Amino acid sequence: MFFTMIRGINMLNYKKIDTMFFILILFGVIMISISNSKSQSNETNFKKVEGIHADYLRCEYLRNPLGIDVTKPRFSWILESNKRDQKQSAYQILMASSKEKLDGNKGDLWDSGKIESDKSIQIVYNGKPLQSKVRCFWKVQVWDKNGEKSDWSDTAMFTMGLLENSDWEAEWIGAPKENPEIGKKRIPPSPLLRKSFAVSEEMDYAYLYVTSLGDYELRLNGKKVGNHVLAPEWTDYLKRVQYQTYDVTEFLSQGENVIGAVLADGWYAGRLGPVRWDKNYPRRGPYGLDRRLLMRLDVVRKDGNVQTIVSDGSWKIFLDGPIRSADNFLGETYDTRKEQPNWDKPGFDDSKWESITVDKSMKANLVAQMNEPIRIVKNVKPIEITEPKPVTYIFNMGQNMAGWCRIRLDGPAGKEITLRHGEMLNLDGTLHTENLKSAVQIDKFILDGKGEKDFEPRFTYHGFQYVEVTGLTSKPSLDMLVGKAVASDPPITSKFECSNEMLNKLMQNIVWSQRGNMHSVPTDCPQRDERMGWMGDAMVFAQTSIYNMDMAAFYTKWITDIRDAQTKDGRYPDFAPHPYEPEKRFSDVPGWADAGVVVPWRLYQNYGDKRILKEHYPSAVRFIENIISNNPDFIWKNGRGNKYSDWLNGNTIKAEGYPEKGGEVPYLLYTTTMFANSCRILSKMAAILDRENDVKRYEEILSKIKHRFVEEFLKEDGKLEGDTQAGYALALYYDLLPPEYESKAAELMNKQIERYDGRISTGFHSTIPLMKELTKMGYNEVAYKLIESERLPSWGYSIKQGATTTWERWDAFVAGRGFQNPGMNSFNHYAFGAVGEWMYENLLGIKFDERNPGFKHFVIHPKPGGSLKWAKGEYNSIRGKIGVDWQIKDNKIYVKVEVPPNTNATIHLQTNDSSQVLESGKPVGQVKGVHKITKLDKKLELQVGSGKYDFEALY
Ligand code: BGC
Repeated sequence: MFFTMIRGINMLNYKKIDTMFFILILFGVIMISISNSKSQSNETNFKKVEGIHADYLRCEYLRNPLGIDVTKPRFSWILESNKRDQKQSAYQILMASSKEKLDGNKGDLWDSGKIESDKSIQIVYNGKPLQSKVRCFWKVQVWDKNGEKSDWSDTAMFTMGLLENSDWEAEWIGAPKENPEIGKKRIPPSPLLRKSFAVSEEMDYAYLYVTSLGDYELRLNGKKVGNHVLAPEWTDYLKRVQYQTYDVTEFLSQGENVIGAVLADGWYAGRLGPVRWDKNYPRRGPYGLDRRLLMRLDVVRKDGNVQTIVSDGSWKIFLDGPIRSADNFLGETYDTRKEQPNWDKPGFDDSKWESITVDKSMKANLVAQMNEPIRIVKNVKPIEITEPKPVTYIFNMGQNMAGWCRIRLDGPAGKEITLRHGEMLNLDGTLHTENLKSAVQIDKFILDGKGEKDFEPRFTYHGFQYVEVTGLTSKPSLDMLVGKAVASDPPITSKFECSNEMLNKLMQNIVWSQRGNMHSVPTDCPQRDERMGWMGDAMVFAQTSIYNMDMAAFYTKWITDIRDAQTKDGRYPDFAPHPYEPEKRFSDVPGWADAGVVVPWRLYQNYGDKRILKEHYPSAVRFIENIISNNPDFIWKNGRGNKYSDWLNGNTIKAEGYPEKGGEVPYLLYTTTMFANSCRILSKMAAILDRENDVKRYEEILSKIKHRFVEEFLKEDGKLEGDTQAGYALALYYDLLPPEYESKAAELMNKQIERYDGRISTGFHSTIPLMKELTKMGYNEVAYKLIESERLPSWGYSIKQGATTTWERWDAFVAGRGFQNPGMNSFNHYAFGAVGEWMYENLLGIKFDERNPGFKHFVIHPKPGGSLKWAKGEYNSIRGKIGVDWQIKDNKIYVKVEVPPNTNATIHLQTNDSSQVLESGKPVGQVKGVHKITKLDKKLELQVGSGKYDFEALY
């Protein structure tokens, strides 16, 4: 088959796939071999499967996760088959507490028995209660549509974490308490924490559970544990602190062993968000000043006895280590002369180190991290070095990204090398840093004169394409530096390529901006001093992000952050986590707060996740009920927070022949579309959760909002107040117009595009509605004009200026004019990249069907237009790979489609003659897998089962 595995999860080795001209994916097949549970998994090519076979087994969306804390986890698998129209008719899950038992087909934890069902996702555990630390090995066999049984799948596994905080039996340890007056202003060096212990018996396996307040790096016998960076990642630490679980069996040996830990500020004690907005807010220590470690190591011996090592008063600490200061915004300073050689290995003499402080005052609600960790996801090689000023060298990475650089350095003791990071160059070739505001992102390395070494920071990250290096004594070479792109690391799930190179670049830029803004929360930007989980940006980009990557686990975590930041009366925040007193400020902004309803709904639509709806529903109800009670006349005008409106719309742009006004949609019209959308989603959630009374209530409220919307904003001639592109786009998209006004609205929307001389004037919230409604309402060619345009403002314009990520503002940089206001000018913002959704759904033609969530059924409908001659790509859904490859040639359209087993699709084929459509050379009516054919105007609609199809039609 075509699946190739890309990467596993937590603790698994993974392989990076490069992307050249299109975006890669693969959600394919890791064949796990747990015969050696230490190595966790390995990868092989996928088997050819004649009947049916289950593969890509996952637990809570993750491959072989360690240390989960859901006691009724959910399972899923992907089905493989070479046959058309293949379905699963039944399944059996077997789960055992050891690999040996499972190999002997003994499910001592759970034997589901044969269950007649086509379910292959969201299957809830129903075996013996799962206790802390239990290891669970599982496999699946399935029956195909004819009742033929498959082989057992390969074995997958997961382990339970520490379900009760008391299971830790460990203490929070670190440096002596800081004096708050000094601590708010000064970043102390990163302390080194150390514990030596002996392992006397032969061990079977060892798991390590760890977290910190501040970031940690954990080391065992001189090696870094795991590939996580910036752990334990960002949550509202006052409400939840995530811990990680590592399999450390291979790190340990009999005799003396040493655990080492390094602590730094991270999001806990470091600077957060735009401090300039709040003068009284502590610049350091938003959640606390004292960095602390909590750790438990269980070494399970061959005889079953367990040796436990925990963080406690027996550890030693060294306060004056080589990391002199580290902060996400400011960067890291490393002084090699302060190193303690071999401190993290056996044999080191720590008698001069201090006793550790046990902090009895620390209390935290500990939860398992159950999404893909932040790690180094790509190495990026520089493409050029310039020297704009004498001995000031600038490396051009060729790619805007978030992360840091590794640099090879040599020089005399005390020599200081400085790396400054920026996204752009000034016209004179020097580094542009004004748009970073107070996030200076400077790394410094001070040498010890003892020879060449590789340096890279560990407790910071930067948004940059250019790195200025000063302090070198000789000319640098390209190979001395490599960029490390750092991000939360869910698998890439799509490929996209089409005949317009600019659009291929646009899709690559969109994916890079997504990568640049996933650091355990979806952020607005990775460079300036914000980097907050801005809700409006995430709301508009959610669907694109889901097509690009498997976002289920990432958003599940973030939705909890949203609930953590919800106010007592139900208001959702502007950003989550919210470290600025959520009750008092930054909440209930139309189009930002609504992400609290929209994003959970996206998880349901794309992954069939009912559990998230159930968990989240009461919170969403509180949000809507608060708006309803503040706005008895159903126009969302009261109880609103800040006014961001349809952010960065055309009114903020100056361009030749471009109207100065008329881009911004009237505010109450805009706010009311958001209110209606959230209310509609809530009524749908209620329906899924069988809450009939609520369905009635929210449908009634929605119809009142619609009624008031029309009364307030729609004129008899069909014009909406303000007569803006955005207004029509939002009203159509959120279905707020009486049907008889819809085509008029589309016509007026198009008129407004003409008024802008064929250019866009929409902001964050109305751009994707505009693109989708143009295509839906018969203006597909106009949508193509917009997306293929290279005039200001357009996506193409930024690419013409050399963009490698999507820009915050259409006019972030204008040729001949220069940079926009550096107070707010990010070159790596994903919100306008929400157009990726239009590219997947319309240009490529793959779209989910919310009535059959989780891609049980979906729609394939490529809508060619503009200069496009072909497009091909895929989306690896939770149920498997969906592929499309269309081409227009010699008055014909050729469409290849791949539909995964156990799903079906509605395919729309655009053709001039629906009576002459062939599949693999035969008339479609005679083909296996095609069940229903409906002839429509210039279109044939086909209902198909799983398999690969190759259509050909006149065009
Ligand atoms: C962020 C945005 C965000 C906005 C609110 C900005 O500073 O960068 O992306 O949504 O504030 O309007």
